Amino acid sequence: MDSFIIEGGVPLRGVIEISGSKNAALPILMASIAVDDEVSYANVPDLRDIHTTIKLLNILGREASLENGVVRVKNGTLGKEAPYDLVKTMRASVLCLGPLLARLGEAKVSLPGGCAIGARPVDQHLSALEKMGAVFDLESGYIHGRCPDGLRGAHIRFDMPTVGGTENVLMAASLARGETVLENVAREPEIVDLANFLIRCGARIEGQGTTMIRVQGVERLHGCSYAVMPDRIEAGTFLIAAGVTGGELLLKNCPIRDMSAVVDKLRAAGMIIEETPEGVLARTGENGLTGVDISTRPHPGFPTDMQAQFMVLMCCARGSGLVEENIFENRFMHVQELVRMGADIHVTGSSAMVRGGRPLTGAPVMASDLRAGAALVLAGLAAEGETRVQRIYHVDRGYEHLEAKLSAVGARIRRVKDAD
Ligand code: UD1
Repeated sequence: MDSFIIEGGVPLRGVIEISGSKNAALPILMASIAVDDEVSYANVPDLRDIHTTIKLLNILGREASLENGVVRVKNGTLGKEAPYDLVKTMRASVLCLGPLLARLGEAKVSLPGGCAIGARPVDQHLSALEKMGAVFDLESGYIHGRCPDGLRGAHIRFDMPTVGGTENVLMAASLARGETVLENVAREPEIVDLANFLIRCGARIEGQGTTMIRVQGVERLHGCSYAVMPDRIEAGTFLIAAGVTGGELLLKNCPIRDMSAVVDKLRAAGMIIEETPEGVLARTGENGLTGVDISTRPHPGFPTDMQAQFMVLMCCARGSGLVEENIFENRFMHVQELVRMGADIHVTGSSAMVRGGRPLTGAPVMASDLRAGAALVLAGLAAEGETRVQRIYHVDRGYEHLEAKLSAVGARIRRVKDAD
């Protein structure tokens, strides 16, 4: 297992290019299952989860490979089983369920287990697909779905706006017979990106980005070339890196239009964030950082995937900030590690009170999940002294070439094997 060793206290200065979005790329790659011909994707980040998805597509009979940010997926005879060994390493594997059912009338996908940030069930995915005519059995840890007569359009109202549920059903509905109306859907930009990809392949979808999506099913989807949107969570993480180190970063290819909730809070906390023709320029204003409150919500609210990183900004701010997590239970595992670095944070239920202004000091810490790991890297960059972030395989799931990008703007960060 690898760790990062970070010598903190260096203001980061320079230019960072934002990579393609992991959370957009995963469903869009999975959607190739629903497409008849060859598909080519640009701006795909070189990440562990992407490699897992490519492996899964190959197991499912596609011929998929990643080279220089481009993934090509070729036709092959589709298989119907997503095995436990892959699904256990990446929950998003469950996104193959909808397109497989639509194409083959049958799918067998290992049931994703609980993960570090909560139970994360898939009941909404299954009940929606049931409404479209699928029948599910749970057999030896696998969800076995069948719809021998194909999927039919349906009127579906989700109990909560689920990102993965909306994506799974959107792919299925594109090939179902007749019209599907999806209500109370998630509105995340990554869902809009998936819908745009499907439309490019011939799907008939309206309403993406709003709470109701209408899909008229088509007979088949044809191949296309598509560029994945930039990663708004990676971009948000680098904005905070500029803030907590007292530096100045120019982010190229930054999807700021999809980042209003985060950018508003960063500005309220004292950061100067400007759109320039070259990219988005970020630094802390003359009066320094002050505490603000955040409360995570489905898009367009403050994203849960930025909560841990924002907490580090609050640790570096004057005054206090209340951080409320409403999407996932158990998503405060970074708190104990930040406290080990000198932070003053008290958790009560789903809220964390951060009292800022105490200097962070380097310490050995452990990443428990992707965004918690990113937060610890930010804390390490802000802290005096050396921080060792262990279990960075979590961070590798979602940040492309993180240490190279940070080193290029002055950070003292290196990757070591844990035995070192
Ligand atoms: C996606 C993102 C993840 C992000 C999350 C919320 C990907 C690959 N992952 O995860 O980074 O943190 O959106 O923005 O895009 N729920 C149910 N039943 C279901 C489905 C969801 O109860 O069938 C609950 C979950 O437990 C959670 C909430 O709904 O509390 C939101 O989950 P969901 O939006 O589905 O998140 P993911 O798609 O798993």
